[in-house]
Amino acid sequence: MYSRPRRNRATAAIRAMVQETRLDTANLIYPLFIEDGKNVRQPIASLPGVYRYSIDTLLKEVEESVALGLQSFVLFPKVNDDLKDKTATYSYSDDNFYLKAATEIKKHFPEIMLMSDVAMDPYSSDGHDGYVDENGNIVNDVTLPILAKMSLAQAQAGFDILGPSDMMDGRVAFMRETLDKDGFTDVGIMSYTAKYASAYYGPFRDALDSAPRGGDKKTYQMNPANKTEALREATLDAAEGADFLMVKPALCYLDIIQLLKQNFDLPITAYNVSGEFAMLKAACMNGWLDYEKAMPEMLLSMKRAGADGILTYFAKDFAKMRKEGKV
Ligand code: PBG
Repeated sequence: MYSRPRRNRATAAIRAMVQETRLDTANLIYPLFIEDGKNVRQPIASLPGVYRYSIDTLLKEVEESVALGLQSFVLFPKVNDDLKDKTATYSYSDDNFYLKAATEIKKHFPEIMLMSDVAMDPYSSDGHDGYVDENGNIVNDVTLPILAKMSLAQAQAGFDILGPSDMMDGRVAFMRETLDKDGFTDVGIMSYTAKYASAYYGPFRDALDSAPRGGDKKTYQMNPANKTEALREATLDAAEGADFLMVKPALCYLDIIQLLKQNFDLPITAYNVSGEFAMLKAACMNGWLDYEKAMPEMLLSMKRAGADGILTYFAKDFAKMRKEGKV
C-alpha cells in the first residue's frame, strides 16, 4: 500500500495543517428579533435560547455579541396586529420602532454590519410577503413599490445591507434603482435568491406571528425539488445588481449553495433557518447529540459547500466557543 490517507490524519498538528475549510466568527450573521416596548426579553418556545428583545435589551445583546467577536447582525420585527394592514404601511411609517431601533444600534455600534428584512409579511394583515388581492392572489407588481418604500426607509434609518426575503420577481432592480435615485448607492442588497417554500421556517413564524393567514407561499417561494431554477434566479439577481446571493434554508440545500458558488462571482450566503436550529437544539436538549460538537459541524458543512457568510441563531454560541478556544 503506497497511499495511506490516514498518515495525514495522524496528529492534531497534521490535521490542522491540512484542514481545507475554516469557519470564523466573522463569517456569521446573527439574527435578532425585536418588538416595541421596554425591558423585554421574551423567550420563543420553538427556539430554545432565542429571545425577542425591546431596543434597550437588544443593545445589551449586541454589546455582548460584539465583545465575543461578532460583527454582523440581521434584525426582524414583531409587529402588533393593530398596526398591520393590506399594504404594510407601517413598514415605512415615521414612528416604526424597527427603523428607530436600527438608527439606535448604528449610533452605538457604527462599525457593525446591520442588515434588514425586506418583505411585507411582518406588517401585512394577510401574513404574506406580497400584496394579496381579493381573489387571494399575491400580486407581484403591486408589491414592488411597497418594497421600494420599505427599502428607502430602511436605508434612511441606517441599515448597511438590505435583505429582500420576499421572492417577488424584479425586486432587486426595483430596489437598486430606488436607492440609487436617493443617493444610497453604498447600501448593499443581499438577495434571498434561492428561497424555498420550506417547512423549516415554522419557529420563525411563531417568533414573529407572521404565518400566512390563508394559503401558502408556494407561488413565490421555490419548489424544494428544483435546482436549475436556482440558477435562473441567481442569474436575474446578479444582473439586477445584488451584492450577495443567499440560499435558504441551508442544511437541506447544501447542493444549491455549492451550485451557486461554482457558477457566480458574487459572495454566497446561507440562511441556517429556525427549523434547522430547533431540530438540532431539541436533540441536544434530549441528550441525543453533543451540542458543542454537532453545532459547529453543522455550520462547517455550509461553509464547505461554498457559503461565505452564514445567517445563524447559533452565532453567539459559536463565537463564545471560539473565544474559549473550544472550536
Ligand atoms: C419572511 C421570512 C421568513 C424567514 C425570514 N424572512 C419566513 C417565511 O418566508 O415565511 C425565515 C427565517 C427562519 O426560519 O429562520 N419574509
